[in-house]
Amino acid sequence: MEIKSAKFIISNTDVKKCPQDNKNEYAFIGRSNVGKSSLINMLTGKKSLAMTSATPGKTMLINHFLINDAWYLVDLPGYGYAQRGKDSRKQLKNIIESYILKRETMVNLFLLIDSRHKPQNIDKEFMQWLGENGVPFSIVFTKLDKMSSSAAKKAIEIYCNELKNDWEELPPVFKTSSVDKRGRSEILDYIEQLNSMVDE
Ligand code: GTP
Ligand code: MG
Repeated sequence: MEIKSAKFIISNTDVKKCPQDNKNEYAFIGRSNVGKSSLINMLTGKKSLAMTSATPGKTMLINHFLINDAWYLVDLPGYGYAQRGKDSRKQLKNIIESYILKRETMVNLFLLIDSRHKPQNIDKEFMQWLGENGVPFSIVFTKLDKMSSSAAKKAIEIYCNELKNDWEELPPVFKTSSVDKRGRSEILDYIEQLNSMVDE
C-alpha cells in the first residue's frame, strides 16, 4: 500500500475525545522506548510526525494520525517505565487500558517487542490480558538493525518458542527496523488486508 498522506489530528488522554468519524484504526503499544513512535514515522515516511526520544516515557497521550484521509495510526504511551512515579504509571495504565477496551474502531493492536531482549514478564502478562479481553493483536519485533541477522533470527525463534508455552496459536509476527525500514511493506500490506476485510 502506498502512503499518500499522513497528518497529525489530535492528542488526548481520554478515549471519549478520540475522533468520532468511525474510521478504522491501528494502534501501537509496548514498553517505553521500544520504538512505537519511530515505527509510525517509518511507516508513514515522515521523520518527525510522531515525537520520539532516546529517553523512555516520551509519549504520554493517545495520538491520532490520519493516513490517506481514510484510516488512523495511533501512537500510545509506553508501559512499564520504572523511573516514573507510581501515580503517573497508574494514570498511564488507565489511559492505555481504557483506550484498548473501549475503542471500537481499533481493528488491530501492534504490540512491539525489542528483539534484543529475552521474553519479559511485563510483555507476557500484557499479552495474556489482551487474550483474556479478546483484543486482536500482532507482534512486532523492533530494532533488528542492532543485531546480526543470525542473532536476530535466533532471538525471535527463542521468543516465539517461549510464547508457544502460553499460546496454542501465535498471532502474526513482523520483524522491523525503523532505521533500515525492514518490515514496512509487510505491516502496510497487512493493514490494507484488514481494511478491506473490515470494510466489506
Ligand atoms: P515512549 O514514547 O517513550 O514509550 O517510546 P517509544 O516506544 O515511542 O520509542 P521511540 O520511538 O521514541 O524510540 C526510542 C529510542 O529508540 C529512540 O532513541 C529511537 O531512535 C530508538 N529506536 C527506535 N526504533 C529503532 C530501530 O528500529 N532501530 C534503532 N537502532 N533505534 C531505534
Ligand atoms: Mg513514543
